[in-house]
Amino acid sequence: MKGIKILGIGAFAPSNVVSNDDFSKIVDTSDEWIYSRTGMKKRHLSKGEPTWFLAKSACEDALKKSGLKAEDIDLIIVATITPDYFTPSMACIIQRELGIEKCIAVDVNAACSGFIYGIDMASKYIACGDARNAIVVGAENLSKITDYTDRASCVLFGDGAGACVLTAGEGTFATYLGADGSGAKFMVARQIPPRNMIINGDEPEFDDGIPKSKEHYLFMDGKEVYKFAIKALPHAVEMACKKAGISVEDIALIIPHQANIRIIETAAQRLGVPMDKMQVNIEEYGNTSSASIPLALNEAYEKGKVKKGDKVCLVGFGAGLTYGAVLYEI
Ligand code: UT7
Repeated sequence: MKGIKILGIGAFAPSNVVSNDDFSKIVDTSDEWIYSRTGMKKRHLSKGEPTWFLAKSACEDALKKSGLKAEDIDLIIVATITPDYFTPSMACIIQRELGIEKCIAVDVNAACSGFIYGIDMASKYIACGDARNAIVVGAENLSKITDYTDRASCVLFGDGAGACVLTAGEGTFATYLGADGSGAKFMVARQIPPRNMIINGDEPEFDDGIPKSKEHYLFMDGKEVYKFAIKALPHAVEMACKKAGISVEDIALIIPHQANIRIIETAAQRLGVPMDKMQVNIEEYGNTSSASIPLALNEAYEKGKVKKGDKVCLVGFGAGLTYGAVLYEI
């Protein structure tokens, strides 16, 4: 399979920063509990900036660094679980904001694996020739669906966006994706139910096997998701390596979804990889779902942690349950 080349990476996070101590003022928690259980110190929270604005800002940064012009982009994929509208898609808004006259534009909902799913889709559009260059952006305003009365989840989530501009490349490349809908009930934020003139309140309940979460807020069974994550992360990396015909030791840097430092440490141990090969920025951003991998990717490039010829593995897991990895060569 033809590979990809990343031409530019961009990131954007709202300037408003909330510390662990700030949370101890609204729920029964502490900096000690949050940091020791998750590795998080801060997260950036939107002060009204909509998801499209976060996404657009990251895309503009990535486009500028790529050296391409907006009209060179044939495909926009936005990974998000917190879009601003049912319709139109975030991707169409980004197209408008970037001033692109004609391109394919679509949103992807694969939760924290969304950026990985987006890169996989873009690579296939590029390989078949329907797109020359693509922008994939993960953007979230998780504060829209966070229940700030639930200490078990509210301390975890942040807002932000990360984007990359892709084109065809020649080096090592493989993707490995998966999902397990039997775990859908473990991480849920409910949409509004239908309301119309024939609904009068005596309708039968449809059992969807999903717990009744509070309004539209996010509910997470942390323990179940944790158990899934420590298996899914190393599995996805190993399978991507197998598909590419390389071994895990050949990877220069792994960029995992930033959900919990303990998940990343356990995965590193299981893969036999030292922690300095795992890109971590969870202290600064918390868990930003589909934005977390590109935010960490941007940091890795900015800090010069990778060089030409290096093999990099992006790996995500999250609600759905979904998981996936992208292995590419710089
Ligand atoms: O991005 C999508 C993927 N998401 C994830 O991967 C998240 C996976 N899950 C996790 O990272 C962890 O399960 C959590 C960080 C969510 C929770 O950590 P834990 O070590 O599994 O804690 P726990 O749920 O077992 O709770 C331990 C204790 C409980 O008290 P008791 O029952 O032992 O008295 C909780 O009530 O900690 C309590 N607790 C808290 N205490 C202070 C839960 N949240 C808090 C809190 N502050 N914020």
